Amino acid sequence: MIDIHDDVFTCSAKMRNDIVDFCKDKEPMSMLEIGTHKGYTNKYLAPYFNKIIGTEILDEHIEFFNIHCKVENNEIRKFNVYYDDWKTLPEVDIVFIDCVHSYDGCKMDVTNTLKRYPNIKYIIFDDYEVWEGVREVVTEFVTEGILKIEKLIGLDTLIGGHPSDRKGKQEGCIVSLV
Ligand SMILES: C[S@@+](CC[C@H](N)C(=O)[O-])C[C@H]1O[C@@H](n2cnc3c(N)ncnc32)[C@H](O)[C@@H]1O
Repeated sequence: MIDIHDDVFTCSAKMRNDIVDFCKDKEPMSMLEIGTHKGYTNKYLAPYFNKIIGTEILDEHIEFFNIHCKVENNEIRKFNVYYDDWKTLPEVDIVFIDCVHSYDGCKMDVTNTLKRYPNIKYIIFDDYEVWEGVREVVTEFVTEGILKIEKLIGLDTLIGGHPSDRKGKQEGCIVSLV
């Protein structure tokens, strides 16, 4: 399976396995992925979840997903997470945020998540400390007492060649509502 070593836009194998490990003792859950790219992580996680719904804006990624990463219990929707109506998205237990990693983009992802899913069980952030904006947003919601960190996941030393060039930073984290 392609991972961050092959395609810098996807996650590491460690990040995926840490997600599986975190969820394995819990009731089977469903996931919404905000920013699906070609579907590598989505396909990897699918066997461990009831359902995984991906969202993606680019047609070429959606086409790739449908040819190479479609399995029985996943799907991809052409959905602009910053413009389209989140009310059209199905109920889920987990939202996996991995889209635009700016402060404003990530803040909108969290705000939309909490508005659409006020009882969300978990939110997973990719590139938690890799992109400053993501770290700032998570820190803000934690400081405000809205979210708490459950687990740090993924690599803690990024591979060379990552566009952010932030080596030694934590790849991901899982949070829950306080
Ligand atoms: C970092 S990649 C996602 C990687 C994927 N989660 C994985 O682990 O393989 C971010 C994706 O978000 C998509 N994206 C960017 N802006 C978007 C938007 N407004 N709505 C939906 N998807 C968007 C990009 O096209 C890109 O494929």
